[in-house]
Amino acid sequence: MDRKYQAVAEKIKKLVMDSDYRLGGKIPSIRDLALTYGVSITTITAALRLLESQGIIEARDRVGYFASSRVLGAVDRSREHEPVPTNLADNTFIRDLATLNQNHAVPLGSAIPANEYLPNRQIQKSLLRAARRTSETLSYWFPGTPAYLSAIARRMSNIGVNSRGSDIIATNGAQEAVMIALAALTNKGDTVAIASPSYPGILHALQILDLQVVEIPCFPHGPISLDTLEFATRNFEIKALCVSANCSNPTGYSLSDEDKQSLINICKKSDVAIIEDDVYGDIFHGKARPTPLKALDTDGNVIYCSSFSKTISPGLRAGWIHPGRYYQSIANQKYFFNLACPAITQIAVADFLDCGTYDLHLRKMRKVYQRNVNMLRNLVLRHFPEGTHCTVPDGGYVFWVTLPFAVDMEKIYEEALRHRIYFAPGSMFSVSKSAGRCLRVSGSNPVSTKVKDSIKYLADRIEESFHARSHDCQAH
Ligand SMILES: Cc1ncc(COP(=O)(O)O)c(C=O)c1O
Repeated sequence: MDRKYQAVAEKIKKLVMDSDYRLGGKIPSIRDLALTYGVSITTITAALRLLESQGIIEARDRVGYFASSRVLGAVDRSREHEPVPTNLADNTFIRDLATLNQNHAVPLGSAIPANEYLPNRQIQKSLLRAARRTSETLSYWFPGTPAYLSAIARRMSNIGVNSRGSDIIATNGAQEAVMIALAALTNKGDTVAIASPSYPGILHALQILDLQVVEIPCFPHGPISLDTLEFATRNFEIKALCVSANCSNPTGYSLSDEDKQSLINICKKSDVAIIEDDVYGDIFHGKARPTPLKALDTDGNVIYCSSFSKTISPGLRAGWIHPGRYYQSIANQKYFFNLACPAITQIAVADFLDCGTYDLHLRKMRKVYQRNVNMLRNLVLRHFPEGTHCTVPDGGYVFWVTLPFAVDMEKIYEEALRHRIYFAPGSMFSVSKSAGRCLRVSGSNPVSTKVKDSIKYLADRIEESFHARSHDCQAH
């Protein structure tokens, strides 16, 4: 009879051979594998040694295990690495995020922070103080109110991007920042590279601007594959890359500083502008604030976009853009698009930031989100089918779940909504629909009994869908 580690080795072998791990990239850590398969670290270590002896995986000193070069050689890498520009107009899977509030659904997939996680009292005070300053609040303020722009410049300087207020433009959230950056850099039909899976708002922006998209896959433990990015920049005329290098949505992964530098170099070589979306950077889970790409940018090619939607309030629509060397064309886009952002919210946010409680709030929220994510990950790994993989986010509150087999995710999504459970199916996050076995789960809300029950509910629907499919296959 098989020893336990041999059975586990078989499962890991299947994971490596049947998924993107065979294209390179580090396979999950020993701890992650132990959690996934519900066995001890010793069993996983024995299983990995067995696979190493069989030439399936190889160890790299102090980094971890990778698919072996023999396995890599066995796949047609050139084909797998060849992304193709796609027209988004054909994509029927871009969903309207408004479904989230449908029927007051349990927000299991929502990337919107719970109201109780926002600094309600302090922001209310700042809004009231701002409302009294009608001499300022009732005017147009382009590119932003002076106090807001200076407060942002100070925060940017604190995270390694030495800035002045005159470098910044206020925007209606990060979504508008990305949108005006894309509008300034591209013309209809141009090609833009994005990470895959990617935040759906990017897909919406590309669709509205009628752009072609090249999807660059995310690889284990990283939000974007640099190999494929390099391939794409060499083979297509790419105008811009949209990327979240820190705590990306939906995987939660960040790039290391070394990889951030390589990404900047790859884009520089092919003259590809970088649109960096850093909305989750402030709610990292590690010890220090991850470096933005913009902090490593020496020639103004990185356009930095962010907002306070994940930290202070999504409804205030307080965002900004640091456009680097594209300042003038991006400023024009903003001005022609909607002249300016509401002054009252900028004045209130600047007031709130000046009070000095923001960092305190962030420290508290980082712990809360990390705890929520850990609880949800454990629940998913406990209730979902064996072999389910969950990313371990470097920050933010979302993580990406990959099932070991295909199910009818669209059907499960519709059924769950009818039961007032909202989760985010993988197809929302890519054009190529390659993420049909995936979903995004979010810890942006307290892990209530309803949330816990909804995980069990989804696990049951997944099992049912799997059995229905196997049954269909046998019947044919
Ligand atoms: C990665 C990412 N970028 C941008 C946004 C939108 O941010 P905002 O509300 O500031 O427009 C979101 C919201 O979910 C997001 O997850």
